Amino acid sequence: MSDETITVLTGDRPTGPLHLGHYAGSLAQRVEMQKGDGRIFIMVADSQAYTDNIGDTSKVSAAIPELVADYVACGLDVERCTIFLQSAVPELAELTQLFMNLTSVTRLQRNPTIRDEIKKRGFENSLPMGFLSYPVAQAADILGFRATHVPVGGDQLPMIELAVETASKINRLAGRAILPEPTVVLSRVERLPGVDGKAKASKSLGNAVFLSDSPAEVKRRVQMMFTDPDHLKVSDPGKVEGNVVFSYLDAFMTDRERLADMQAHYRRGGLGDGSVKKELVAVLEELLAPMRERRPDPVAGRDFCLQVLREGSVVARDVVAGVLSEVRAGLGVLTL
Ligand code: TRP
Repeated sequence: MSDETITVLTGDRPTGPLHLGHYAGSLAQRVEMQKGDGRIFIMVADSQAYTDNIGDTSKVSAAIPELVADYVACGLDVERCTIFLQSAVPELAELTQLFMNLTSVTRLQRNPTIRDEIKKRGFENSLPMGFLSYPVAQAADILGFRATHVPVGGDQLPMIELAVETASKINRLAGRAILPEPTVVLSRVERLPGVDGKAKASKSLGNAVFLSDSPAEVKRRVQMMFTDPDHLKVSDPGKVEGNVVFSYLDAFMTDRERLADMQAHYRRGGLGDGSVKKELVAVLEELLAPMRERRPDPVAGRDFCLQVLREGSVVARDVVAGVLSEVRAGLGVLTL
């Protein structure tokens, strides 16, 4: 990307270590995008994490510097990206408060991602207001930076849709284009399955390969991976579809020709699960070994990670404060 007007904003909730699903879904793209001329903002979404973790803030506190360590490990360059903490930019909360007046409760209740998450968290009978309205806050995160591109996984599409709607409402009310309508940047790999073959690799299900896993852990998780249950003998023809090992190879193997050969061989019969898993371990190690090298030490590097956030948050505040005053002026809100 060479267009100077590109502004990227994305982020993650600090609730636990990042895994290969995050990498394939969004982190790899961020690393790619930082090579261009655009501005890149990466947000540690602690305020969003509190919408369903307010009783467990120590978990979030521990995960905040660890998330920055994951970013650095992935190859995000703190000189090129502004990495900041959501709650350290109170202007975002102010923007959220204004945006709340532009969205109805029913509109939020219809959001498919929210509906899904409410069920998973058992919030049906007692839904925290903060949780229901986090998509509004997320619209503020995006529009507060005038982000043009938001690299996220597909489950975030309804959130971006709300941000687009909010931008257009503000622009209409203001009678001029104050905020650009953001576009989602989806990755080629939509959902990476869990090692158990379940629909999605997730922190909470514990079925993921983490970016911080040791070589022994990586190997163990690959050994656990679900393959084709009907592929009993090496000579049997096997299925590549729904075979977790092949899903991971498809997501991470750069030698596409070799992958196509392996798929054909497996389908035909004669290629054992052991060999395919061995190949996958090698492919993953190629990706993860440099991450281990770059990763700040969890103890000694903690201060560095917090300092990255402090400095990034100063820059972020400045940007959002500017947008906030333009939005206020656009809406005709009296400022003293
Ligand atoms: N909802 C995102 C997640 O669960 C995190 C997030 C918060 C985000 N604000 C954002 C992502 C703004 C993109 C843009 O991972």
